[in-house]
Amino acid sequence: MADTERTFVMVKPDGVQRGLIGDVVSRFEDRGLKLVGGKFMQIDQELAEDHYGEHEDKPFFDDLVDFITSGPVFAMVLEGQDAVSQVRTMMGETDPAESAPGTIRGDYGLDLGRNVIHGSDDEDPGANEREISLFFDDDELVDWDQIDETWLYE
Ligand code: RTP
Ligand code: MG
Repeated sequence: MADTERTFVMVKPDGVQRGLIGDVVSRFEDRGLKLVGGKFMQIDQELAEDHYGEHEDKPFFDDLVDFITSGPVFAMVLEGQDAVSQVRTMMGETDPAESAPGTIRGDYGLDLGRNVIHGSDDEDPGANEREISLFFDDDELVDWDQIDETWLYE
């Protein structure tokens, strides 16, 4: 059986402004992923630069930081079997224009710089834990048993 893990996910400012928080959270709930943390917040410059630190030498870095700090986001932590890669698959490709219909970016976006959602990278081991601790204190994460778990997992 695959590992139960946690991943950091965020509805970006474009998704918030377009009223997509509920739809995005619904998709994850429907899939069986469990919400263990959630926060409606505004990202400041320092947090943005930390979060996207891996891209600091890229030409799009300043625009990316400007965008992610431009309005509120909905940050969350989701838990489930293979949660990191399952969320990435549900998100689609980085560029919405290359994302299949049925994925979040493929259904809700058209432009690389307005791609609605962030999810921890599944090709960067430890990115999930690093991002979770950047955005959430331990006491903001809730361990709880969901009533349908015995029907979701064998
Ligand atoms: P994210 O971190 O936001 O979830 O997106 P991602 O893993 O799918 O893509 P990543 O490579 O981490 O890039 C972070 C964000 O930077 C913007 N980007 N612009 N102009 C460009 O070539 C370019 N490449 C990436 C995207 O908005 C992407 O979400
Ligand atoms: Mg990324």
